[in-house]
Amino acid sequence: MNILILGGGGREHALAWAVKQNPKTDRLIVAPGNAGIALLAETADLDVLDGAAVVAFCAEQAVDFVIIGPEAPLAAGVADATRAAGILTFGPSAAAARLEASKAFTKEICDACNAPTAGYARFTDAAAARAYVLEKGAPLVIKADGLAAGKGVIMGMTEAEALAGIDEIFGGAFGAAGAEVVIEEFMTGEEASFFILSDGVSALPIGTAQDHKRVGDGDTGPNTGGMGAYSPAPVLTGAIEAQAMDEIVLPTIAEMARRGTPYQGVLYAGLMIENGRSRLVEYNCRFGDPECQVLMMRLGAQALDLLLACAEGRLADARVNWAEDHALTVVMAAQGYPGSYQKGSVIKGLDKLPEDSRHMVFHAGTAAREGAVVATGGRVLNVTARAESLTAAQESAYAMVDAIDWPGGFCRRDIGWRAL
Ligand code: AMP
Ligand code: GLY
Repeated sequence: MNILILGGGGREHALAWAVKQNPKTDRLIVAPGNAGIALLAETADLDVLDGAAVVAFCAEQAVDFVIIGPEAPLAAGVADATRAAGILTFGPSAAAARLEASKAFTKEICDACNAPTAGYARFTDAAAARAYVLEKGAPLVIKADGLAAGKGVIMGMTEAEALAGIDEIFGGAFGAAGAEVVIEEFMTGEEASFFILSDGVSALPIGTAQDHKRVGDGDTGPNTGGMGAYSPAPVLTGAIEAQAMDEIVLPTIAEMARRGTPYQGVLYAGLMIENGRSRLVEYNCRFGDPECQVLMMRLGAQALDLLLACAEGRLADARVNWAEDHALTVVMAAQGYPGSYQKGSVIKGLDKLPEDSRHMVFHAGTAAREGAVVATGGRVLNVTARAESLTAAQESAYAMVDAIDWPGGFCRRDIGWRAL
């Protein structure tokens, strides 16, 4: 079949890498793609936020299956447009993607199905929000309701920080995403990510992972989009996974179906684990980036069969074949990230690295320029390895990192530390 993947980051490179290995794949097109993706798939220039343009492209190129990577096209209704045109699609409708696009909506769903999550209140007015902070006292978490590229969450560890967060959001720092503010109880515990496919009715867990959000070793410094990940996450034990399915995921899927907006795609549940139980921190309506890279490393070619079963409503009969393996990815970023950074520095040594079912450098922000690979983003490479143990996967990934000649880049040296 002919497959189109929308997106151009490390997540989409990993999806393309796994899909490409499956013999069902004839043509593979990624839009817009990047320099790494271009080595294994066709790339195309396409406005991925424009549903009509995506539908027209699918007709022109005889695309049989569309996989939507990032949240922005999902929130913009691209899956609605392709499904309405009769194109098999992996990714939720705009109505279902509200589980990521509106934090207040997610809280409403949790209330409706009794899913454990942080206590909260929602506000459209700064004075009422400020009064609530003064009444409750710190610590509190202040969130812009809408999509804010991962930046709309402010930790109010003191009352002053919480109040400043309210002023920042209502002051317009996140535009329309900040028209409403959700204030949450500050949860303690250990965070992990849980990935579940849902076809609207049935659900299939496809793996766990842990991300490293802070830029510096030992979880220090400012927050980023994620500096590395590994799978599985040992903190998400079988018992906690079962509790999360029973109390959070399955009730959410049932509630979305009951409302006439069934959830079809991957549901990424960010969980906070404490005293042997999980609570929901947030949902995302897509694979995590860089968590997808470690999941795809472990799933390999079967990932396409699972995504197809999800899109075709056949998850009740689908199974995941797990190996007893571990995958780990180290994000290499441009010096300065997550602050301002330079673009265009040259990356050398990539062609000498192994590329097989245990070693892969996924490209997140690269372009090909005059025969060289150059950095074009903040997060640039995802150096990924798979092995029998997490320690071995970590050693293998850092050996690859050390063979990359890129003075303009840096990475954390401790990815995996929580599990090791
Ligand atoms: P979010 O964008 O909702 O994922 O929030 C970003 C990060 O903020 C999460 O990954 C958590 O580390 C943290 N966070 C969000 N909500 C809470 C909460 N209620 N309590 C503690 N930490 C939180
Ligand atoms: N790595 C976090 C995310 O994809 O949201």
